[in-house]
Amino acid sequence: MTGRYRLVTPDPPLVVGGLELRRWVAGDRDDLVQAWGDPEVRRWTAVPDDVSPEAAERWIVGEERRREDGLALDLVAISVDDGRVLGEVGLSTFDTERAAARIGWWVAAPERGRGVATSMVGALTAWAHDGPLALRAVVAEVDPANPASVAVARAAGFELLPPGREGDRVAASYPERLVFASMRPVRRSEA
Ligand SMILES: CC(C)(COP(=O)(O)OP(=O)(O)OC[C@H]1O[C@@H](n2cnc3c(N)ncnc32)[C@H](O)[C@@H]1OP(=O)(O)O)[C@@H](O)C(=O)NCCC(=O)NCCS
Repeated sequence: MTGRYRLVTPDPPLVVGGLELRRWVAGDRDDLVQAWGDPEVRRWTAVPDDVSPEAAERWIVGEERRREDGLALDLVAISVDDGRVLGEVGLSTFDTERAAARIGWWVAAPERGRGVATSMVGALTAWAHDGPLALRAVVAEVDPANPASVAVARAAGFELLPPGREGDRVAASYPERLVFASMRPVRRSEA
């Protein structure tokens, strides 16, 4: 991998299906603690060992640094009606040579089952392709035992990649997972 993406938050913020994607702020701390403590989120995503309010505060404060270092773009989905936290979606594992990144997500337990994940994953993926990052591949690694997330990947327009396809190299660290990708067609000027 060479180079580093200059990671910016979508401007204007992405708004879709009654939710808005914005930066994490200090006031989201307790929602993050709650999500980190949720058994489903713990089972399927990389939750830190320390899930204390102080650790959540540090994670939120560290968001800007992770972005500036080109490591991750972590966004929180909030309800446009009342501002409550609905979930998280983020990009990581950026690869400037392949113009690829990995996407991950969770939805707060009370907000599941009504399209939140599909909306936020679809919106961030479209922005990753068409916005300033202009990524060719957005890759989602999903455990085959997690049918909800397999369904999210499909609903958000991702396709299951056969092993060895170009776009899945970014995901090589978890060979046992299903690798889904959203691929932007190569533009004439890039061919
Ligand atoms: C997976 C998760 C994000 C789904 O969020 P959600 O907002 O409920 O998902 P949506 O409402 O957008 O549903 C998307 C699709 O998943 C399906 N789905 C949702 N929950 C499901 C479940 N428990 N079992 C099977 N399918 C499910 C929906 O029916 C829908 O499919 P459709 O488009 O064919 O109708 C949520 O359950 C979660 O946060 N789980 C824990 C964390 C996690 O697994 N993260 C992903 C790691 S890869």
